[in-house]
Amino acid sequence: MNVCVTGSGYVGLITGAGLATLGHQVICVDISKEKVGQINAGEPPIFEHGLADLMKTVVPKSLTATTDLTDAVKRSRIIFITVGTPSSRHGEIKLDQIEKISHSIGEALHDKKDYCLIVVKSTVIPGTTEKVVETVERVSGKEFGKDFGVAMNPEFLREGSALTDFFSPDRIIIGSPDKKSRETLKELYSSFSCPVLESSFREAEMIKYASNAMLATKISFINEIGNICKNLGIDTNKVAEGIGLDKRIGPHFLRAGIGFGGSCFPKDVSALAHQAATAGITPRVLRAVLDVNREQPNRLLAILDSHTPKGKKIAILGLAFKKDTDDVRESPSLSIIKELQMENSSLILYDPMGMKEVMKLFPHLTFASSAQEAVNKADIVLILTEWDEFKTVNFGDKLVIDGKNLLYERPPTNYEGVCW
Ligand code: UGA
Repeated sequence: MNVCVTGSGYVGLITGAGLATLGHQVICVDISKEKVGQINAGEPPIFEHGLADLMKTVVPKSLTATTDLTDAVKRSRIIFITVGTPSSRHGEIKLDQIEKISHSIGEALHDKKDYCLIVVKSTVIPGTTEKVVETVERVSGKEFGKDFGVAMNPEFLREGSALTDFFSPDRIIIGSPDKKSRETLKELYSSFSCPVLESSFREAEMIKYASNAMLATKISFINEIGNICKNLGIDTNKVAEGIGLDKRIGPHFLRAGIGFGGSCFPKDVSALAHQAATAGITPRVLRAVLDVNREQPNRLLAILDSHTPKGKKIAILGLAFKKDTDDVRESPSLSIIKELQMENSSLILYDPMGMKEVMKLFPHLTFASSAQEAVNKADIVLILTEWDEFKTVNFGDKLVIDGKNLLYERPPTNYEGVCW
């Protein structure tokens, strides 16, 4: 099928490259000429494991990029909306990019002769896809269900394993009141063997938020249990293993530590809590999830304080919000660095991929060129991202405080975990 993907950020690129690999003809659209140039040269503008190799096989045969939205829409049967939905300072979702792209797609549809399906893949609060339908109808003068279709189809990609998640999804959610829209999207995904759940727009939108909120809840839950266990001298990891053996609970997302970060969980849980409050519902669990998460880096700082390290040099191993990504957005490591800076601590930082971004944020800080160098030059080590390469570092008898459960199984001589 001819597909266009509007917004070539993380989700757009993975979706585009994935669909191109499955044999579809894909055009990525973006306002950034630089990004478009990179994609057409077969170079991913973001880092994601396996994406560079995959792009070599599909560009330009089945994947190209353009800044010309109208032309791309005219040539496509399916148009994905994958623009960003950031949050405001108060946690509320910002939908400007969705509104703008819906308007542009409406204009492009005005002269389009054949039927096409618009698929909202960006994470949007319930009620947003209906507004996309209204905007496109108003601007194009065409009718939803007759001249064009709309479906809401959330993504469940994890950074670092996004391509694996794309090709082997647990489920596909297709939300639309319109049968033809649902059938057209099912045809696009016909090679997938996972369960396909059909729903309304709002159900699909909420499934995305509730999924991320559930995963974030599991993390804050195990972190709270971890804080209690640590206080009582109980091994949190053994407890997580024990409860995870219950099929109703499952073993995943029970890794205690310094809390969740990234561009999704903090933003999505806040946006859902904000929408609940706007609707007059007090989101008690969601607020508690965010509260526990906000406090969790302080647990590590309290352990650090208990070792009275004033004046000692601290190695920060890990800046990215998790391993296998250069993404430092909402990384707990950054809140720890900010706190330590306020105390005028002497720091040396290292991350295999996240340093470039952090150098822009904290240009005056000292960075090492390897984990071992950072450790050699410090008195105390904080592990704040679970990079595999940190497992092979020689820590000698320096104090290592692990915020990510990385060295739990083979701890160095002088070791303490944040919840274990
Ligand atoms: C998350 C979801 O897992 C994806 O399904 C979803 O599509 C994505 O958000 C999104 O909404 O786009 P991602 O943020 O890439 O994916 O990363 P995760 O692997 O879920 O980790 C999120 C954070 O939780 C990380 O900081 C990680 O270290 C932390 N975490 C995860 C824990 O602290 N403990 C755990 O047991 C698991």
